[in-house]
Amino acid sequence: MYYPEELIEEVRMKNDIVDVISGYVRLQKKGSSYFGLCPFHNEKSPSFSVSRGKQMYYCFGCGAGGNVFTFLMEYENFSFIEAVKFLADRAGVELPEMEYSKEAKEKAGLRATLLEINKVAAQYFYVQLKTEQGKTAYTYLTNRELSDDTIKAFGLGYSNKYSNDLFQYLRKKGYSEDLIRQAGLINTDEKNGVYDKFWNRVMFPIMDVNNRVIGFGGRVMGDGKPKYLNSPETAIFDKSRNLYGLNRARTSRKPYLLICEGYMDVISLHQAGFTNAVASLGTALTTGHASLIKRYVQEVYLTYDSDEAGTKAALRAVPILKEAGISAKVIRMDPYKDPDEFIKNLGADEFEKRIGSARNGFLFSLEILAKNYDMESPEGKTAFFKETAKRLMGFEDELERNNYIEAVAKSYRVSEESLQKLVTKTAISEGMAKPAARPKQAGGGKPKEDGILVSQKILLTWMIEDVKLFGTIKRYISPEDFTEELYRTVADLLYEQYEAGELNPAKILNHFTAEEEHREAASLFHTKIRELSTREEQEQALKETILRVKGHSIDYRTMHLDPTDMAGLQRLMEEKRKLDDIKKLHISIE
Ligand code: GTP
Ligand code: MN
Repeated sequence: MYYPEELIEEVRMKNDIVDVISGYVRLQKKGSSYFGLCPFHNEKSPSFSVSRGKQMYYCFGCGAGGNVFTFLMEYENFSFIEAVKFLADRAGVELPEMEYSKEAKEKAGLRATLLEINKVAAQYFYVQLKTEQGKTAYTYLTNRELSDDTIKAFGLGYSNKYSNDLFQYLRKKGYSEDLIRQAGLINTDEKNGVYDKFWNRVMFPIMDVNNRVIGFGGRVMGDGKPKYLNSPETAIFDKSRNLYGLNRARTSRKPYLLICEGYMDVISLHQAGFTNAVASLGTALTTGHASLIKRYVQEVYLTYDSDEAGTKAALRAVPILKEAGISAKVIRMDPYKDPDEFIKNLGADEFEKRIGSARNGFLFSLEILAKNYDMESPEGKTAFFKETAKRLMGFEDELERNNYIEAVAKSYRVSEESLQKLVTKTAISEGMAKPAARPKQAGGGKPKEDGILVSQKILLTWMIEDVKLFGTIKRYISPEDFTEELYRTVADLLYEQYEAGELNPAKILNHFTAEEEHREAASLFHTKIRELSTREEQEQALKETILRVKGHSIDYRTMHLDPTDMAGLQRLMEEKRKLDDIKKLHISIE
């Protein structure tokens, strides 16, 4: 930890969560909580709640939750330390500089310095574009019909012909060669020594959602190779977790994003009024992108190039998005190559029409599939429908699957009934259980372990929701029964607080300063629990969960027991006997 825990807790206590979040989200008081529209997913009616008592927030729609630090980490993309600093500043708490460990300081300092270097470089490129030497680049951009406003909005620039002047400039500003290299802006070889990575190119600064420059794309003006040169991945540049243009698109207030392939496509679309366009950074769409997108919208329109590569990229993206709970539609750009060319030739109104006639991602994939079969011959058609039936099995939800069966039957003019039969037959012959009886999680590829972790999470959530329940659960479950390390740490802290007579989960989160850990810990207190109406049901669920967690814990510890530890073995056998007793018990929640 970089700061003493008491100090972090002081910062947290001096920043009331309702006040802080009110700066970002319009909240309205309802009962003991405040409600508003969730900033982490798109919604029309408020399911985002903030509790002043608990000093935590939680979204009933998407499950986002945590304390005031978590909120800023999620919303502003801050690291934990950045969130602490921001709030310390807000509340006038002074943070001692020297409390950093050397390593921690270097790490936090490195990110900040790399961001600074990138920002200085972006400004340098921007200025170059407007100089005499930058004239060809400026002309290049205006020839591509970009306005001055657009150039400014996207911070476009020019890296000039001198082979190391950015390097010299940054050195003069006081940055070491090592840092400039870590920012990805220079290369070295034996013959030429140190030279700028970007050289005589039009520069596209790449920003994160908070408008911080994290890297660059540079385009040759003409036909040179490579056409685009991109910054390498660095401590601040993760291509699979950022999207070009998202810093602007996130505020477009449209319920969907347009995803395209190229920087120029994004810029053209924004200029034409489609300010919800983004692009991946020269890589295929990843699950990291999908979860980033999910924070803002639940629907996307893929507007990839109309060539074979673009079609393939769209086909690959559809299931990745679906897996993240995002529905995808596909917009075709033919007869033009990409959105940029489309807009130039046909204009914004025609593009709008294409959005209107976008095709559902799944049906689009079938259209492409059909090209592999001779749809005129009975054999070809049958083979096509067999493959289609297999893919339809991918919809686990019965209602959704039936809707697709209906849609496919309609578009390919076969009877819905016979397609339904084929799907069922395929399911059986593929060794899957009867489709209707298939449990929702089956085939999800999730490790079995997950179930027990969910049970452990549910217990933790119950414990902080209701002190009375804590007392009941504590009779049977101790911190060591939480087999996942992070969960056990949380449980240890929680039991300590309980003994001290003060449950304060928001404080526990302070303990986790690494981003991933912090998020995971926050989720432990916000596990979605099925609504149980009657007391019997609740008691039954509680008992089952306790038995499950305890049973797993005993098995786990037995497996990891030192074989010579006789006393340990004895204890475990004793616990196992007790477990049988619990089974016979009635656990009351009153
Ligand atoms: P323009 O020709 O300027 O209109 O480019 P575009 O925006 O239409 O890009 P294109 O469809 O050719 O490529 C899509 C994206 O792939 C670009 O925005 C880059 O991120 C990436 N890309 C294209 N060419 C290269 C290349 O030569 N090297 C690398 N690393 N990435 C490239
Ligand atoms: Mn293009």
